[in-house]
Amino acid sequence: MAEELKTFLDRRLAEGMDRRDFLKLGASTAGLAALAACGGATTSGPSGPTGPDFKLGIVLPYSQVYADLGNSITNGMLLYFEQAGNQAGNRKIVVTKADEQVALADAVAATKKVVEQDGVDMVAGYVSSPNANGNRNYLDSNKIPTLIANAGVNALSRANKSAFIYRTSFSNWQPSHPMGSYLYDKLAVRTVQLVYANYGAGIESVGSFKETFKGSFGSDDVKPPLNNTGDWTPFVQKIQPDKVDAVYVFMSGTDAIGFLKKANELGTLRKLKVVAGSGFFVEQDVLGAIGDAAPVGAVTGLHWALTLDSKENKDFVSRYQKKHGKPPDVFAVQGWDTGRVIVEALNAVKGKTDNKDAFLKAISQVSFKSPRGDFKFDPATNNVINTIYVRKLVKDPKLGYTNQVIDTVPGVADPGK
Ligand code: BEZ
Repeated sequence: MAEELKTFLDRRLAEGMDRRDFLKLGASTAGLAALAACGGATTSGPSGPTGPDFKLGIVLPYSQVYADLGNSITNGMLLYFEQAGNQAGNRKIVVTKADEQVALADAVAATKKVVEQDGVDMVAGYVSSPNANGNRNYLDSNKIPTLIANAGVNALSRANKSAFIYRTSFSNWQPSHPMGSYLYDKLAVRTVQLVYANYGAGIESVGSFKETFKGSFGSDDVKPPLNNTGDWTPFVQKIQPDKVDAVYVFMSGTDAIGFLKKANELGTLRKLKVVAGSGFFVEQDVLGAIGDAAPVGAVTGLHWALTLDSKENKDFVSRYQKKHGKPPDVFAVQGWDTGRVIVEALNAVKGKTDNKDAFLKAISQVSFKSPRGDFKFDPATNNVINTIYVRKLVKDPKLGYTNQVIDTVPGVADPGK
């Protein structure tokens, strides 16, 4: 019983009940027991859920360039399930994982493993754009309800939209679109060199930035391959600080770590007026790995920052920190929100996922206050509408290297075409 009471309390705290409010109620263990008995704990009875297990297939990278991203998303999602008592709609949530890796063939094999061998009811995951897009037809034709928990490929909100696929993260267009005009109008940047991992997400991110940047571009883009395991020197040396005001960068995971370490060693970024990019480039996973190589002052756009001053964010950050001994990153937030969409949709249909239309409709209608701000799907694109925070990298006396919000662009929705 004590475990159930703890689960109940944890869930209420995550739903927004303030611990002080709770204590003001004079809640003791006995009081909690009474509250639970009155129906406060909706799905968690002493004997547990009685419906069939809900099998969730998580396809995320646990190796190579995006391994840390996959681990953070998984941590965030499992943390949400844990506070929900690992159940929803009278069904126990049972997770099976497969490694997305980098190459599409491996990501396809991982998807087939969870669908065909494990027989999952739903799939969640995908970090890299080509892997989400490359699995789209299989998931769509097999009618597998799917939540994309990171991959930003624009086509999934446009020509390749599927009735079976919703995205809880972002489209590649979203974080970068407000940044072109921000650099030109607010930071008086006139010339930019584009630097990006040379694959779908990098190309789409800088393409989106270009839509709103009115200045000119350095002659050659700097385009290291995705998952670069070689020397970073030639790529960093291609940046021409004497010819441009700024760089605009898309890189993430170990690519961002390798690039930033080398750029610090060569002193390249310090010679620029502005270092800018989509926020993955200097997100907490990267900052935690590069220490003093952090490009302090970098200005980036993203749909979350560790320092967001909301109750939902503070609760999430302290819960995550307590469980994992390190601060969360944007990927953990996406995992947490993905978990919440699953739990709320399952509760809404009372666990009846056989009626896929009803389950997908329930997914589309989930909305809540997330650590990132208001969370809701855009019915035109099946993609989440995000607030984009313009962030400045600082060394905070308490938090260390982190991103502070310096501007806010609400209601950024992918254009859908
Ligand atoms: C992508 O491939 O879509 C992606 C990967 C890492 C961070 C952001 C986007």
